[in-house]
Amino acid sequence: MARRPVTAGERKSPPTDDHPFSLHGASVAVLGGSSGIGRCVAEQAARLGARVFIGARSAKKIDCAISEIGQNINGQSVDVADAASLRRFFEFTGPVDHLCWSVAAKTDHRRIADDDLSALKTDWDKLFWALVEAVQLALPGIGATGSVTAVTGSLRLRPVAGKSMLTASQQAIEGLFRALAVEHAPVRFNIVAPGVIDTALWTQMEKNERAAFFRRHAEKIPAKAIGAPQSISSLIISAMVNPFMTGSVLTADGGEALV
Ligand SMILES: NC(=O)c1ccc[n+]([C@@H]2O[C@H](COP(=O)([O-])OP(=O)(O)OC[C@H]3O[C@@H](n4cnc5c(N)ncnc54)[C@H](OP(=O)(O)O)[C@@H]3O)[C@@H](O)[C@H]2O)c1
Repeated sequence: MARRPVTAGERKSPPTDDHPFSLHGASVAVLGGSSGIGRCVAEQAARLGARVFIGARSAKKIDCAISEIGQNINGQSVDVADAASLRRFFEFTGPVDHLCWSVAAKTDHRRIADDDLSALKTDWDKLFWALVEAVQLALPGIGATGSVTAVTGSLRLRPVAGKSMLTASQQAIEGLFRALAVEHAPVRFNIVAPGVIDTALWTQMEKNERAAFFRRHAEKIPAKAIGAPQSISSLIISAMVNPFMTGSVLTADGGEALV
C-alpha cells in the first residue's frame, strides 16, 4: 500500500509542545541581536522556550540585552565583516536550529558615478557576502525542520538615491534565499522586509530631524504610524515556526508600497 506523504507540520523536531508558536527545545542564533528588531526576536524566541544566542559587535550592548531578557539567552561579540570572528561565533553557539540575520551594516551615501568601485565593493561585502558566510557556517548544524530568516527592507522595491548597493543587495538576498530554499530543502529560507521602524538605526539622524522625518512618513503611509520592532520580530518568529513557509518574503511596511 502506498504510504501517505508526510506533511510539513508532522515533520517536527526539535521538539515542540502543542503551542503552534513554541520554540521549546530549539536553539536560535540572532546576528544583530543586541538591538532593535534582532533584540525583539531574541526576546520573543527566549520567551517561547528557545535557547537563544545573540551576536553583535558591542559586548556592552550584548550584556545589557542579556540582563534585560534574563532567561534562555547568551551572547558573544562578533563582527560579521570579519570571517574569523563569525567562525568563532558559530563555534560558541554550536549547531543551531534557526538563524536570524538582522544586522544593520553601516554604509555611506554613495552615488555610483561619483565613487570608487572599491568602496562599493566594500559595502557589498558587508551587505551580501557576510550573510552568505554566516549561512555557510550555520547550515551544517541546521536540521530538517530548521530555518534561516534575513531582514531586508522596503528599499528592495523603492530605491533612494545614494543607497543603490542596499537596493541591489536586498534583491540579491531575495534571489539567493529563493535558490537556497530549493538547494538546501527542507531547511527553510525566508525574508522579512520592514518599512520604517523606530530603532537605534535612526539615531544616526539628529533628534529633531528624526522626529520630523517620522512625523512626515507616518502622515504619508496608510498605517499612519512608524513601526515598532515587535511588529517585525513576530513575523520573523512566524517564519521560524511555520513548517510550510519557505522562499517567502513577508512585508510589514505600514502600507508604504501602496502610496
Ligand atoms: N529600522 C528600520 O527602519 C529598518 C527599515 C528597513 C530595514 N531595516 C533592517 O533591519 C535590520 C535590523 O535593523 P534595526 O533597525 O534593528 O537596527 P539596530 O537597532 O541598529 O540593530 C542593528 C544590529 O546590528 C548589529 N550590527 C551592526 N553592524 C554589525 C556588524 N558588523 N557585525 C555584527 N553586528 C552588527 C548592531 O550591534 P553593534 O552595533 O553592536 O554591532 C545591532 O545589534 C537591518 O538589516 C536594517 O537594515 C531596518
